[in-house]
Amino acid sequence: MQQDNRKPRRILITGGAGFIGSNFVHHWCNSYQGDRVVVLDALTYAGNKANLASLENNSDLRFVQGDICDRTLIDHLLESENIDTVAHLAAESHVDRSIIGPGAFVQTNMVGTFTLLEAFRQRWNKREQPNDRFLHVSTDEVYGSLEANDPAFTETTPYTPNSPYSASKAGSDHLARAYFHTYGMPTMITNCSNNYGPYHFPEKLIPLMCINILLGKPLPVYGDGQNIRDWLYVEDHCRALDVVIHQGQPGETYNVGGNNEVKNIDLVEQLCSLMDELAPDLPITPAKNLITFVKDRAGHDRRYAIDASKIKRELGWTPQETVAAGLRHTVEWYLANRDWWQPLLSDEYKNYYDQVYAEPNLS
Ligand code: NAD
Ligand code: DAU
Repeated sequence: MQQDNRKPRRILITGGAGFIGSNFVHHWCNSYQGDRVVVLDALTYAGNKANLASLENNSDLRFVQGDICDRTLIDHLLESENIDTVAHLAAESHVDRSIIGPGAFVQTNMVGTFTLLEAFRQRWNKREQPNDRFLHVSTDEVYGSLEANDPAFTETTPYTPNSPYSASKAGSDHLARAYFHTYGMPTMITNCSNNYGPYHFPEKLIPLMCINILLGKPLPVYGDGQNIRDWLYVEDHCRALDVVIHQGQPGETYNVGGNNEVKNIDLVEQLCSLMDELAPDLPITPAKNLITFVKDRAGHDRRYAIDASKIKRELGWTPQETVAAGLRHTVEWYLANRDWWQPLLSDEYKNYYDQVYAEPNLS
């Protein structure tokens, strides 16, 4: 969203060392040189400073390691950096981890969002600047699960979150909405479908499958593999967040999606074919021989689909990447960046993996 007479922003990006957050930091720094960009990230298991390594010498960018639940720190950053825009992406984000340990999800996603909203409210009360914005980045999972022939989620679909993750995100969405309704604070919410692309932590479906193919490990497909997700290339999501910050209406919610519904098993087979084609010396070929159906995820949502017509109609955003091209880029990225993902297969990751994929033939 390049604008000739655009006023520079001073933006706080929470979760900027995570998957979407770091892609968004790259997007913002490339698009708006001269803006002040402050990244706040606790560097949990999912946060990785290496995601921002190529921006290390960018003097517009400051990285702060810290927790969004730390009110003193947030107050200090908002004041000392004179922040006018918050893009809030910090979260516990993985459904399987929320099933094993929901407490961290309530703490970060609900208490953390509340802490940020309160700190911004105090500042907003003093400033009330017309360009101030608080963008709360959320998920389509708050809308629950669709049957095969149901229409896609719109912004007015009732919330029916089914996992501790989506319930904690729903709680934070309600808070963000209430801060506009009650206090007039310029909050906006985006609810996006499944992202994929570079810097995606290995626990999620697409990177997990790519990495397991390269290691010759089983590809664990939950249940019957017929669950459907609506996949969006991460850069398209970043462009949507950008357009909402610049052109979105305070108090509004925007659904963001790729219009790319794919069954899990079909997606995994596509990844196998791409790896067969692109990866030299795979331990097992064809890679699809590694596909293993495993016990289903508890409460597994069957289908997500996003109706993104509002953001298209009102803000002119549409996705630019096709799934075929986006998956190819993604597979190429994981092939070229073994040094990025190999260190992430830590003891913590192995412990997590053993808990979720407990069947003995899978590790
Ligand atoms: P991620 O797990 O890759 O990254 C989350 C980041 O937040 C990490 O860098 C982590 O260190 C940081 N973090 C966690 N707890 C924190 C805390 N208490 N204080 C400060 N930082 C903390 O997540 P992601 O996939 O990049 O998702 C980013 C946001 O987008 C989340 O709000 C998620 O709900 C939402 N979202 C994700 C997807 C998706 O497909 N990944 C789709 C729609 C919406
Ligand atoms: O819809 C948006 C959401 O997408 C985001 O809010 C979440 O943060 C993000 O993690 C993602 O949630 P999902 O649960 O849909 O993504 P995940 O990659 O974990 O799983 C995608 C699908 O693949 C889902 O139906 C479960 C299935 N799956 C996943 C893993 C990790 C498997 O079959 N096997 C696996 O090993």
